[in-house]
Order: sequence, then C-alpha cells, then structure tokens
Amino acid sequence: MNKYLVAIMEGDGIGPEISKVAVDVLETLNELFDLGISLQNVEGGDGALKNFGKALPPYTVEVLKNCHACLKAPVGESAADVIVKLRQIFDLYANVRPSRVFPSVRALKPNIDLVIVRENTEDVYKGVELDLGDAVVALRPITKKACERIAEYAFNLAKTRAKRKVTAVHKANVLRKSDGLFLETCRRVAKRYQDINFDDMLVDAAAMSLIRDPERFDVIVTTNLYGDILSDEASQVVGGLGLAPSANIGENFAIFEPVHGSAPDIAGKGIANPLGMVLSVSMMLDWFFTRFSDQNSKSASEVLVSAVYSILKKGVKTPDLGGNYTTNQVGEELKRELIRLSKPM
Ligand code: NAI
Ligand code: MG
Repeated sequence: MNKYLVAIMEGDGIGPEISKVAVDVLETLNELFDLGISLQNVEGGDGALKNFGKALPPYTVEVLKNCHACLKAPVGESAADVIVKLRQIFDLYANVRPSRVFPSVRALKPNIDLVIVRENTEDVYKGVELDLGDAVVALRPITKKACERIAEYAFNLAKTRAKRKVTAVHKANVLRKSDGLFLETCRRVAKRYQDINFDDMLVDAAAMSLIRDPERFDVIVTTNLYGDILSDEASQVVGGLGLAPSANIGENFAIFEPVHGSAPDIAGKGIANPLGMVLSVSMMLDWFFTRFSDQNSKSASEVLVSAVYSILKKGVKTPDLGGNYTTNQVGEELKRELIRLSKPM
C-alpha cells in the first residue's frame, strides 16, 4: 500500500551523486520495512534554471503540494531561489539541525549531542533590502507568532531528549526590539515547560561556547541568520559538514536536505560524502513517526542511524573524513549493513 509520496530533488554539483546513494538507501528500507513510500522526481536548481528558465519551476511547486515530504540534495548558485523560496511557500518554519559525535570521526569533545532549532521564515531571509542611493538598508522582520511557534517547537523537542534543556541564542543587548521580542517570547514559553531547563546566551558568546564547551548545549533555539551560521559551526565541531543532516518542518509538509552545498570543487569525482543526505533520510522517517505515528518508519529510521554508525566504526569513510572510500562504495557498504541489521536475530 502506498502511504507516502516523497519528492526527490537531485540538485546540482555533487547532488546527483549523493542522491543516488540516499534514494538507494530509502528504497532498501522501503522494502525491508514495508514503508509504503513511492518516489517522484522534481526539478530545481541551476540545472532547472538552464533547462526551464526557472530555478524553481511552478510545476515543481505543484507536485510538492501533493507530496508528504521532499528529500532534497543541495543546489548551486540558485539556492536562495529554491530552498529559501520553498521554506516561505510551504511555511516550513522550523529548521532542525542536529550535531552528534560519530564513531571514528574526530570531534572537539566526546559527548556532544545538540540540536539547533532555527526560525526558518523571517529575519533578513525575507530578502527585503532597500536601496537608498548611497546606503542600503536590510530589513529584519521578527514576529511574535514566528517566535512563539519556534520556541514551542524547541521545548517540545527538548521533552523527547535526555538533557531536557533549551538555550535561546540572541543579541538582545543590541537588537533590543527584534531580538528583544524573540527573547521575551522564549522566556514566556519557557514558563509553560517547567520540567525543561532554560537559559539564554548572546550569539557571540554562543559561537565561542560551541568551541569551548559544546557539551553544555542540548537544544539551541535561535533566529534565522544566527542559526544558519551557528549550525555550520556546530557541524564542524563534530567532524564535518559532509555528515550534517537537516529538516525544514512545517505543519503538513517537510523538506529534508544535507546542511552542505553543492560542493562544485569535488563534483563529478565520485568522492562526495553521502552521509549528510542519508541521515536526512533518517530524519524524514522519524518525522513520519511524529506526524503519522508510524512505528515502522521510526524503526527504519533507527536502523539507518545504527547502520551509519556501524560503517563509520569499520572505517568506511570518504576522503573528507580521512578515508579512501568512494561515494558509491559507502552506499554499497551501507546497504549491506542495513540488510544485516534488519534480519531477525
Ligand atoms: P559547500 O558546502 O558546497 O562546500 C564547502 C566545502 O565543504 C567544500 O570544500 C566542499 O568540497 C566540502 N563539502 C561539502 N559537502 C561535502 C560532502 N558531502 N562531501 C565532501 N565534502 C563536502 O559550500 P559552498 O562552497 O559555500 O557552496 C557551494 C554551492 O552550494 C553554492 O553555489 C551555494 O549557493 C550552494 N549551497 C546550497 C545549499 C542548499 O541547496 N541548501 C546550501 C549551501 C550552499
Ligand atoms: Mg547555511
């Protein structure tokens, strides 16, 4: 039975190479766990701009409206016209970016396990810049509604985690009104979650703490631009951008994609790390559990994470992690491991 329609956007640069592995993994899990997922390809990015004159063709948006989720590879120079637009069109208000230590991957500290929850629809990403002649002004809209729902998302996520802690990151000492509203809203929401520890931190101090004491963090909730910057930093703190997954979550639709870009410097060489996109698949399956209470999907997500840990432990790594495996070889090892882990003991 087909329960979920998932759109696949293969993207640009290394996108098609890592998509091949991620789709293969998804199809393997679909069979092993009888997930009922069917796939549909959609166009988007520099390739679509060249072929159809639009980085985000209207047809793609129409197809996505009928899908439960989208698995998206990175796109190139047109990223702002694709993912930033999609976040706004589908109101994907929560950008969730976990950073956890992985086996055999060098991290700054041994017990890092944090998630950045980034507000995904406003701030300077609204793209409102005014040209005033000799000056340019960028507007930074921050609304109470967006602050409230992102804070709610962060506290609810913290409830499911061991440390049960939320840190709001801001610059309310300078941006008194905009970040002031964000901080004040987080504080108000925190009162409704008495069982969750809450603190706040200035963004510059948070950038430093992510290096000096990353184990102090659990869930970080922040506005759009700070979240963009801190999440790249956090991915490096646990060993690299190539491993970092993310989710763009809305009420009824979500897009899952690796944090990194299209890596034109290594495109076509067959050495891109596919695991950031593969772990985005596991976030998608976990979201199917949250959204549709699909226990099967939850099990598939957990097995996928175990398989990733297990191949890394064996030293199956692409060059960015110091290994010498190709993208496809990582995919093959992963598939073998998935089949092994899903067999009844
Ligand atoms: P990037 O993330 O593509 O690359 C930064 C560095 O990390 C490069 O040295 C690259 O080789 C390496 N890297 C990234 N992913 C890797 C992987 N999976 N395996 C091994 N190494 C990997 O960032 P950059 O160079 O700033 O941007 C390149 C293009 O990507 C730009 O055109 C940008 O617009 C686009 N981009 C798209 C995004 C999206 O679609 N969501 C997000 C970020 C950037
Ligand atoms: Mg970014």
